[in-house]
Amino acid sequence: MTPFTYRNGTLHAEDVPLGRIAAEHGTPAYVYSRAALEAAWHAYDDAFAAVPHQVCYAVKANSNLAVLDVLARLGSGFDIVSGGELDRVLAAGADPARVVFSGVGKSRYEMAQALNAEVGCFNVESEPELERLNHVAGRLDRRARVSLRVNPDVDAETHPYISTGLKENKFGISIDAAEALYRRHADFPHLQFVGVDFHIGSQLTRTAPFEDALERVLALIDRLGDAGLTLEHIDIGGGLGVCYHDETPPDPATYADALLARLAGRELAVYLEPGRSIAANAGVLLTRVEYLKPTPDRNFAIVDAAMNDLLRPALYDAWQSIVPVQPRDSDRPVAYDIVGPVCETGDFLGKDRVLALAQGDLLAVHSAGAYGFVMSSNYNTRNRPPELMVDGDAVHLVRRRETVEDQLAPERLLP
Ligand code: LLP
Repeated sequence: MTPFTYRNGTLHAEDVPLGRIAAEHGTPAYVYSRAALEAAWHAYDDAFAAVPHQVCYAVKANSNLAVLDVLARLGSGFDIVSGGELDRVLAAGADPARVVFSGVGKSRYEMAQALNAEVGCFNVESEPELERLNHVAGRLDRRARVSLRVNPDVDAETHPYISTGLKENKFGISIDAAEALYRRHADFPHLQFVGVDFHIGSQLTRTAPFEDALERVLALIDRLGDAGLTLEHIDIGGGLGVCYHDETPPDPATYADALLARLAGRELAVYLEPGRSIAANAGVLLTRVEYLKPTPDRNFAIVDAAMNDLLRPALYDAWQSIVPVQPRDSDRPVAYDIVGPVCETGDFLGKDRVLALAQGDLLAVHSAGAYGFVMSSNYNTRNRPPELMVDGDAVHLVRRRETVEDQLAPERLLP
């Protein structure tokens, strides 16, 4: 589904012209499409329909309450990585039994919070974490449901910052070490080993690394089965890529077919943790051109969104499409660096974009629904932008623009 389309020469979000949203709510602003979120979630749910499964949306990709609400109403599970994300999914009405808790650094407090909320499973990433969880669960007189996140040592063929399944990465437990820990299950009386889990990286554009990882983890499951330990589920993580530019990632159906072929004949429920592929293309960042600044070397379009609003280009040199909301047909396009007001040379949203622009024009940065607002900051004491959810012809303000009062509230002058 393409939620952002041109109608009568102007870019719309579903049935709403983006110019209207900019006029009513100002810029910069994040705009999400409810229909696109729902379509992306259903694509996964349908793709895995042949087996017992649970789509656990990775909250970190976009944790706005309204986004979580939309998905919770579909019956989604959630993959969380902090106590804060747990509070968010509970506030959005999620079923805690469908929540999996990932992350390498869970604190005692977060473990207790998640045990008391009765989350469905802890994805445990190290032996000391297993010991700590056993201890915390014992003190609360609870039994934690656990899966070990194994590190299958496969190359996800993605940006090194978002590759997580190689043995030199901090994530997961090697397959051999995990096997030894599963065999020691009797040493952890307050834990119930119900699953196994892997997540090898993000923005993967081929199924082969997922298939390799799955093969290795299935071999582990078979060895554990021989030793009398039967697991209920396998969590295959997230990581399926999206098209930002010219990438051609498999769709959820192709991805599911490749993996389900290897799972045939097993009594394993499949858990998934997609984030980006649910939210990225369900959102744009709207921004306005403040100034055009031609120089002998380059042409700059200085816009009102910056690296603090959308960090991916600055952090990963990520390419996201930038398009005019109202294209100017007549003008001769020029190559611009689209930059923000922040005082850093790395503050850019895109480079060498051939566009016909004038001061005051509105631009939309595509694929900004995932890892956009959630990675924003107040750098340069900039107020974070509002978030809006379009649903047909309705526009809901789902997070208001920050004010400087919001920013200053936790701070104090010296006595
Ligand atoms: N599960 C776990 C354990 C994860 O660490 C992640 C993402 C996901 C699921 C969801 O992966 P996805 O389906 O979204 O690829 N900030 C980076 C992406 C970081 C991803 C971190 N982990 C970016 O903007 O590209």
